Amino acid sequence: MAKGGKDNVHFPHRHLLGIEGLSPEEISILLDRSETYVNQNRRADKTTPLLHGRTIINLFFEDSTRTRTSFELAGKRLGGDLINMSVATSSVKKGETLIDTAMTLNAMHPDVLVVRHPHSGAVKLLSEKVNCAVINGGDGSHEHPTQALLDALTIRRRRGGLSGLQVAICGDILHSRVARSNIHLLNTMGARVRLIAPKTLIPPEVERLGVEIFHDMNEGLRDCDIVMMLRLQRERMHGNFLPSIREYFHFFGLDYEKLSNAKEDALIMHPGPMNRGVEIDTDVADDVGRSVIREQVEMGVAVRMAVLELLALNPDNGGNA
Ligand code: NCD
Repeated sequence: MAKGGKDNVHFPHRHLLGIEGLSPEEISILLDRSETYVNQNRRADKTTPLLHGRTIINLFFEDSTRTRTSFELAGKRLGGDLINMSVATSSVKKGETLIDTAMTLNAMHPDVLVVRHPHSGAVKLLSEKVNCAVINGGDGSHEHPTQALLDALTIRRRRGGLSGLQVAICGDILHSRVARSNIHLLNTMGARVRLIAPKTLIPPEVERLGVEIFHDMNEGLRDCDIVMMLRLQRERMHGNFLPSIREYFHFFGLDYEKLSNAKEDALIMHPGPMNRGVEIDTDVADDVGRSVIREQVEMGVAVRMAVLELLALNPDNGGNA
């Protein structure tokens, strides 16, 4: 069996803080390695002892279902010791700073910290203070690299590749770290990206990232291969971004009528959590022929296994005794 980070596969980074700056080859290394784990996760025995003796800490300062659970499963399926730090019951509630929390955990010699934080840049800051590998599990509206990787793996397995595909990312782009990581990844891998959203939910100067902007779903979805829907991140909205949810669904919610503009076999994606009837019609979300939303979740475990393996066993990290 290939030992990944141990011998033939090498990912030349200490941390995974974002997709921005990764080369197509580095992204392919992560996706190829993830493929192995898709197969492993479909077996009755899903574990390997690759990370035996390694410690992984999930440190989530924001709510999460998919990301936290899949990192937990990924670490356990690789034979590592994984603990979940519940911030709600930690010393953070007693006023401890992010850096002090990180330094405290660092003193316990973890091999990998998986961190989610509401502020953009907080995970990078933390990575500069600790000795172990750090994986960004989502920082503010900045990046969510493992989400973009699992989206790419889902698309690649369904379409054979990413290059040349027309991908529409629709909804609350402004607050979405998923959108930002996906834009970087899709552009790097040769796909074409369109963003579809009301003017108030498009970040300023986003065109500089090499995307096309649309404010009309019917126009923007025309001939797309992939339709990625995003949740309205109301927890990050300070002020009035939308007239009403009803109106939002009418103009920007994905229903069969709007979807008919995309290619007939266009895939429907959503990172979750979904708000049915807000950004996506419930029948579209559950369309077994076209929606790959559950597959995205499955791919998430495989991608996180690959990332954990390649970082924890990276000899440059000093983690591979
Ligand atoms: C996303 C996130 O947390 O950025 N969810 C996820 O990780 N699957 C998107 C969201 O919260 O809407």
